[in-house]
Amino acid sequence: MESFVPHGASVTIKASDLRGILEYVPLYRGQTFVVAIDGSVVACDNFANVITDIAVLRSLGINVAVVHGIGKQLKDVGAEKNIELSDIYGNNPVDDRTLSIAREVSATVLQTIIDAFATKNIRCVSTNAVRATEVGILSGVDYLNAGRIEKIDFKTLENLLSLGMIPVMTPMAVNREGRVFRINSDLLAADVAVGLGATKLIFLTATRGLMVGDEKAVAVPLEDAKSLMESRRELIDPRVFSKVKCAVRALESTKTQRAHILDGGEFACLLTELFEKVGCGTMIYSDEYQKIRKALPEDAPIIYTLSKNSAREQNLVYRSREEIESKIDTYFVYEMDGSIIAFVSLLDISDGAAELASLHVQPFYQGHDVGTRMVDFVVREAGRAGYKKLFALSTKSAPFFAEVCKFTEVSPSSLPKKRFEKYEASGRHSKVFVRELR
Ligand SMILES: CC(C)(COP(=O)(O)OP(=O)(O)OC[C@H]1O[C@@H](n2cnc3c(N)ncnc32)[C@H](O)[C@@H]1OP(=O)(O)O)[C@@H](O)C(=O)NCCC(=O)NCCS
Repeated sequence: MESFVPHGASVTIKASDLRGILEYVPLYRGQTFVVAIDGSVVACDNFANVITDIAVLRSLGINVAVVHGIGKQLKDVGAEKNIELSDIYGNNPVDDRTLSIAREVSATVLQTIIDAFATKNIRCVSTNAVRATEVGILSGVDYLNAGRIEKIDFKTLENLLSLGMIPVMTPMAVNREGRVFRINSDLLAADVAVGLGATKLIFLTATRGLMVGDEKAVAVPLEDAKSLMESRRELIDPRVFSKVKCAVRALESTKTQRAHILDGGEFACLLTELFEKVGCGTMIYSDEYQKIRKALPEDAPIIYTLSKNSAREQNLVYRSREEIESKIDTYFVYEMDGSIIAFVSLLDISDGAAELASLHVQPFYQGHDVGTRMVDFVVREAGRAGYKKLFALSTKSAPFFAEVCKFTEVSPSSLPKKRFEKYEASGRHSKVFVRELR
């Protein structure tokens, strides 16, 4: 299978590559991604490929909402007509002339996007779901036609998404009376992501990601992004700074867990970032431990399915759906982008001892420290609950517990009596490990 890259070269995709992508189908299906496309990306040679990437996301059942910018087009028209613009990116006061050019270029950029989706047979809709209000006077400066978001009609956006449409939003919006304002597209994208409960907010821009001086940040925890903004602001390009700020705004909401800043001029940037283990831009993600949570009754079916598969490989002991349902409050899950990628159970086995059981990390995510984090989490939980010992039994992952998680191998007879009897009866001959908690 071939796909095209700019400049006429071609890339061969092996049929086996599809397996990798298929891993993500259940992971992302039904989720919403907000893609913010800078005006410079709409204008670049790679734009048609960006649209192809979005078409792939749609074909995987991912809902996509698009917000576009107009900075480059405004700058170009300003230079062409020799007009000094009062604002380029929707952060400064917007005078009447700048507003009028912004309206014109915005309509052109929107049409370019709509036309490009049409070439992929994808239905998109330009909406007036955003209501603006004036920025007003800040520190004594009248921001004139600069607007801020007053309200977004998320119901309408959700309805469009449920029909398989891509809502496309421009950085122009009107107030109740129909007065037009220029708004900042990064901020609009962040607010749309929060309101739609999008799991990802993706900025496509003209840089390789978040560059701090000459260094590219690849994966940045939310807290680090916040401190970077405070301590190293002068080293960050102002355009990228705006994206980091808006990413932080979205990640502080409950649902959005990842924001990506990618070079929209790079071939297959979206697919590489989302589907390859090593992405191509910067990912800012919300705090690790927020992702490990107590399992809910509705998590039981997926835990059952995953644990059944793992039991087939003789990693885990088979547990029936009923057993998992009845013990669901002993499980913790690791959630990424709205999907469960790992789970573990913390069982009381009496005599002041607990057992770390049923630890499973989905194969695609193994080797990325998820297992270690789950173990650390359970050790903390068990300690907090007052247990003195934490046991773990394993047939195939003994080195993981002994060498990586620093559990000590002990004789099975060290288990509390009842658990030892069950151990003997099982005939699995698992190795037994323990961590002293105090
Ligand atoms: C065992 C398991 C939970 C580890 O999860 P994981 O997310 O892959 O582990 P991590 O990425 O945190 O591993 C960190 C380190 O442990 C090592 N490791 C993981 N599994 C290992 C194993 N079975 N043997 C030896 N080392 C192992 C990794 O190579 C990695 O080493 P590194 O830091 O030198 O690169 C996971 O492989 C799994 O779900 N296996 C199937 C189910 C299972 O066996 N569960 C345990 C029984 S309760």
